[in-house]
Amino acid sequence: MELLAIVGSLRKRSYNLRLAHTVRERFADRFTLQIADIGSLPFFNEDLEESPPEAVEQFRGQIARADGVFIITPEYNWSVPGVLKNAIDWASRGSRPLIGKPVMVMGVSNGVVGTLRSQLHMREILASAGVRAAVLPPAGNEVLIRTGGDKFDGEKGLLADEDTLAFIDRKVGSFLGFIEDAAVPSGLK
Ligand SMILES: Cc1cc2nc3c(=O)[nH]c(=O)nc-3n(C[C@H](O)[C@H](O)[C@H](O)COP(=O)(O)O)c2cc1C
Repeated sequence: MELLAIVGSLRKRSYNLRLAHTVRERFADRFTLQIADIGSLPFFNEDLEESPPEAVEQFRGQIARADGVFIITPEYNWSVPGVLKNAIDWASRGSRPLIGKPVMVMGVSNGVVGTLRSQLHMREILASAGVRAAVLPPAGNEVLIRTGGDKFDGEKGLLADEDTLAFIDRKVGSFLGFIEDAAVPSGLK
């Protein structure tokens, strides 16, 4: 299985990027995980749509090839970081590769409610006409992680808190089941 992570922070030491790396390492025997380079995307501009920049084509291709997509994002000012919204706007046009694509939303931030507000906005965006992703239902599957304490290993930087890791294992496991169910042609269900 080939999955893609779209990470909403461009920071080198980003906790959200580190969560993506943690998932990649823990599930290495179940799937490969590419991490999209959304920092290379230009600002969305309809004038560029007729001959989209190479980075945009690459990004859309990565989504199209993936069996499922993780959106792993912090919260900025109670919402989705602009760089992530920009990436989704590009994906919502042209071949619109997110339509019907299994997506799981996760996030790490330092607020009291993790990334709740950002995730709620993200889920609305994912339901919009040009996106229409097949999102893992939030009930029982919300991954809202707070930074701070020693949840992340100082040296390697990966998530290190055992309870949180066990939780992530279960929720990502649910997503893999969701992808497998989604892969069954609807006529056979
Ligand atoms: C511009 C900006 C706005 C932020 N707004 C929020 C917020 O609304 N809620 C929140 O929980 N954290 C907020 N934070 C703090 C982030 O959660 C924290 O910096 C987090 O580590 C960023 O994710 P990253 O480590 O993946 O880069 C904000 C940070 C920045 C830079």
